[in-house]
Amino acid sequence: MSASSFPVIAIDGPTASGKGTVAHRVAERLGFHYLDSGALYRLTALSALRSGTPLADEHALSKLASGLHCSFSGDKIMLANDNVTNAIRAEEVGNTASKIASLPTVRQALYGLQLSFRKPPGLVADGRDMGSVIFPQASLKVFLTASPEARAERRYKQLIDKGFSANMEDLLKDLWERDARDTNRAISPLKPAEGAHLLDTSAMTADQAVEQVLQWYAELKKH
Ligand code: DC
Repeated sequence: MSASSFPVIAIDGPTASGKGTVAHRVAERLGFHYLDSGALYRLTALSALRSGTPLADEHALSKLASGLHCSFSGDKIMLANDNVTNAIRAEEVGNTASKIASLPTVRQALYGLQLSFRKPPGLVADGRDMGSVIFPQASLKVFLTASPEARAERRYKQLIDKGFSANMEDLLKDLWERDARDTNRAISPLKPAEGAHLLDTSAMTADQAVEQVLQWYAELKKH
């Protein structure tokens, strides 16, 4: 069986929409693999920050992206021999990731790596362009959103839990800027894929969102 015959559930959405938590739990419930594509952009950003690579040097950045030595096991993310699970969640890394994600050659450099996560029995992939560009034949496409205030609150909690300092006003500002950059970029902009189910999670718990996605998937398998 070729990799392209294993089912993919694509969950896209803006930053801090809860898609990571939802995608992770859906993958667990189905026994599927999980791809956090944002982590790949964050790993590239962290490599660039650590090596002092200028953000204007697209060629050097795409080389960093194509040469990423990273591994994922459970919740742990390694960059070479370094455990960077928490380090890649820093706001500076997220903002840098959003900037370099607008570079076509960086996106191209990460394309094959993302496809390689599609393995039996299936994959849940979360990001911005999972349903539109990377896995356009995904069995199920979901676009998760939440109000900026709900997302800023979630990001605040996430950062505090990970031991970072955070300030709501700065977070909201960052979020607006990041949304604008991710939505308005020329290549693979953040937008619902054709045929995507829209899910606004502002007033939902993560578990309720997980149940909704599983229900959509179960309905699809009936046909
Ligand atoms: O989902 P996240 O916040 O961890 O992603 C970090 C940045 O990476 C995000 O601001 C935009 C970029 N990204 C992207 O352009 N395409 C993806 N599929 C995933 C993330």
